[in-house]
Amino acid sequence: MVPCCYPLGFLLFSILMAVSSASSTPPPNSPTVFFSQGFSPLYGNQNVIPYGDDRSVQISMDVRSSSGFATKEIFLHGYFSSTIKLPENYTAGVVVTFYASNGQIFPTNHDEIDFEFLGRVQGQDWVLQTNMYGGGSTARGREERYVLWFDPSKGFHRYAVLWTEDRIIFYVDGVPIREVQRVAAMGGDWPAKPMNFIGTIWNGSDWATNGGRDKLNMAYGPYIAKYSDFVLNGCPADPIKFTPECEKNPGFATIPVGITAKERTKMKRFRRKYMRYSYCHDRARYKVPLPECALDRKEEARLRSFMHVNLLS
Ligand SMILES: *[C@@H]1O[C@H](CO)[C@@H](O)[C@H](O)[C@H]1NC(C)=O
Ligand SMILES: *[C@@H]1O[C@H](CO)[C@@H](O)[C@H](O)[C@H]1NC(C)=O
Repeated sequence: MVPCCYPLGFLLFSILMAVSSASSTPPPNSPTVFFSQGFSPLYGNQNVIPYGDDRSVQISMDVRSSSGFATKEIFLHGYFSSTIKLPENYTAGVVVTFYASNGQIFPTNHDEIDFEFLGRVQGQDWVLQTNMYGGGSTARGREERYVLWFDPSKGFHRYAVLWTEDRIIFYVDGVPIREVQRVAAMGGDWPAKPMNFIGTIWNGSDWATNGGRDKLNMAYGPYIAKYSDFVLNGCPADPIKFTPECEKNPGFATIPVGITAKERTKMKRFRRKYMRYSYCHDRARYKVPLPECALDRKEEARLRSFMHVNLLS
């Protein structure tokens, strides 16, 4: 698509985003870490290839294997981010992730905070999904889905998550796109145990693209996702006792927490234009919305027009 053919609102939004967001700059006091310093391969090791002075890694899915990497340390709270470039062209069925999990340590009551990118058929958009689980609350998914104001396969963009005791904020290129505030009624559904940060690429043909209708086609492979300029500004936790040892990372104390009024305006604007699904308005799934969901009739009406697409299989 060329800029001339976008609706004017989209164009203004894109310009505003480009001018006002520091697209690949981590916040102050959040230095980037080398891949080999912060991470190790998780699976499909032969498809995990560091490059670019160890600042970047590419992971791929080919006929032999999918692949992934994970932090060496576990963290309780912090600011975590990576720039990511997604595979190009036909990517139906492909899922690329950047997420936090402790599923390997706590298989029955694990926590999770997710960025999941869902591949596309030609002519459609990559879909970004965010989600979270706490204490094994996998029966209560809290998915939201969005399209982006850029093509995420054309270049690197920064995806970040801020995770605290009572707040989770997802950012794309410095723009907060989702804020989850902990409310007492959520009970144990809050990620409250240390987690690894993980990047993966895998075959999600059953559900990822148009509700599973469009499948992975290896003729378009190998599928390659690139990650660069990692920030792991968290509170490291003891790997055996899981107790936080924040003093091991002095930078952790200086992370700004919360959203400014200006950022909030941008978040609202993003959500109005680009959100396509929210669990808060999915009455087929949740007759009574989950406790943190605010009543928002306008948002509900807007999202209803997208609900006919079977987003969640
Ligand atoms: C994607 O498709 C375009 C045109 O169809 C082609 O020129 C390009 O090489 C393809 N890119 C990849 C990574 O396969
Ligand atoms: C991808 O997953 C689907 C569904 O699980 C499976 O049928 C298909 O064979 C897989 N494709 C490849 C290339 O592994």
